[in-house]
Amino acid sequence: MGLAGIILAAGKGTRMKSDVPKVLHLCAGLPMVELVGRSLREAGVDRCVVVVGHGAEQVRIALGNEHYSFAVQEDQLGTGHATLMAGEGLENYDGPVVVTAGDTPLLTGDAIRTLVEAHEDAHAVCTVASFYARDPKGYGRVVRDESGKPIHIVEEKDATPDEKGIMEVNSGVYCFDSRLLFSLLPTLRNNNAQGEYYLPDALSAFAAQGKTTHAVVLEEQLFMGVNDKWQLAEASRLLNQSILKRHCEAGVSIVDPNTTWIGADVEIGLDTVIEPMTTIGGNTKIGARCHIGPSSKIDSSQVGDECRILMSYLNAARMANGSRCGPYAHLRPGAELGEEARAGNFVEIKNAKLGRKASANHLTYIGDAEVGDGANIGAGTITCNYDGFTKHRTKIGNNTFVGSNSTLVAPVTLGDGAYVAAGSVITQDVSEDALALGRARQEEKEGWAKRWRTKNTS
Ligand code: UD1
Ligand code: MG
Repeated sequence: MGLAGIILAAGKGTRMKSDVPKVLHLCAGLPMVELVGRSLREAGVDRCVVVVGHGAEQVRIALGNEHYSFAVQEDQLGTGHATLMAGEGLENYDGPVVVTAGDTPLLTGDAIRTLVEAHEDAHAVCTVASFYARDPKGYGRVVRDESGKPIHIVEEKDATPDEKGIMEVNSGVYCFDSRLLFSLLPTLRNNNAQGEYYLPDALSAFAAQGKTTHAVVLEEQLFMGVNDKWQLAEASRLLNQSILKRHCEAGVSIVDPNTTWIGADVEIGLDTVIEPMTTIGGNTKIGARCHIGPSSKIDSSQVGDECRILMSYLNAARMANGSRCGPYAHLRPGAELGEEARAGNFVEIKNAKLGRKASANHLTYIGDAEVGDGANIGAGTITCNYDGFTKHRTKIGNNTFVGSNSTLVAPVTLGDGAYVAAGSVITQDVSEDALALGRARQEEKEGWAKRWRTKNTS
């Protein structure tokens, strides 16, 4: 039968004070609306319609078509109207449909599952997820009859003083019988304080028809809505804490949960230690027994087992087992450290591979290059990969030794086992096992310094 979902995301989010549509703001590295979509999928939703309006095109592009279809709500006439717009996307669907807002990044798949199960167990046509609010102001209040059945949801602005005293509120997440919902929605009226078509009125209407309506009480935090950037920061913090907790429970050591940020899609192996002030994002995968940080930032990178990353920045880089980088290494896209390779302080690597046990330990730029196994790149070595128009490659063989402060002008190849004398500018290929010197020969003028001093002090 399947399960359908609708995400209401047409609102403007004025209070965000942003050019970015509200639901696209990131939490744990993902747009809030994508987090909601994932939770729906976790709960079993296999078709999901997103109702877009403000920034519709941006939202569409950010979410893509793989998991979502889209319905446009041109004018924001209310949540009931927005839901109605999703009807076309669910034509021929008959079954339960979960409706939720797109700005609740802490909503979990478990909570949605609980809602749907309660809905099915109660044989209800409408089940609302509710919570007891610390401060109910601004929320719709859930009105129950003497038997405990929810019969009405009343918005703050339409509530009587008595109703305002109710602490149980509407979370904005519901499960409906989809066929009944879409035949009811066109009959809703907007004769209320805000002149809007209210989705919560669907519950009231079903109850008035004598149909089974139900409410399931869940925890407040799940439904925390984000309306401004401070709430976004708070939601991000809470989501981050739950991600860190999940990693700790799986055997990762996190030294300081207050300064560690890990994105939703990051994987980390057993007994890896994450030191303070470290941010790991994108689809980064880190192996077991690594030591990461302090003060490192790692984006969308693949790190093997037993690696060490100290005060470094990695972006779309790879590190094989036992390799090390930092302090202050910069591994840019396409950088690759082979097994037990080392990139030390102030070493920048881009689109280049260091072979097994190769090392570039100090003050070096390696771009568009291949460095063989066991090669030693001396301090201050630069691959000159760019001639102002095109990038060229440098090939450095196995077990080569590049002396300090060498300039390798690409395209150029150093054969296996070759030596480059310190301070060389290498413009031609170097043969296997040869020594290349590309610098002025040293000259000595005996007694010159003494004569110079005498001349200048007399
Ligand atoms: C809504 C509920 C309220 C509940 C609260 C929980 C209604 C009338 N009230 O109030 O009972 O306690 O959520 O947070 O539903 N949206 C559209 N199109 C519209 C209007 C809204 O797509 O025309 C979207 C918004 O982008 C948002 C969601 O629907 O994601 C909720 O709308 P919002 O205006 O925030 O409703 P609330 O006033 O918070
Ligand atoms: Mg709201």
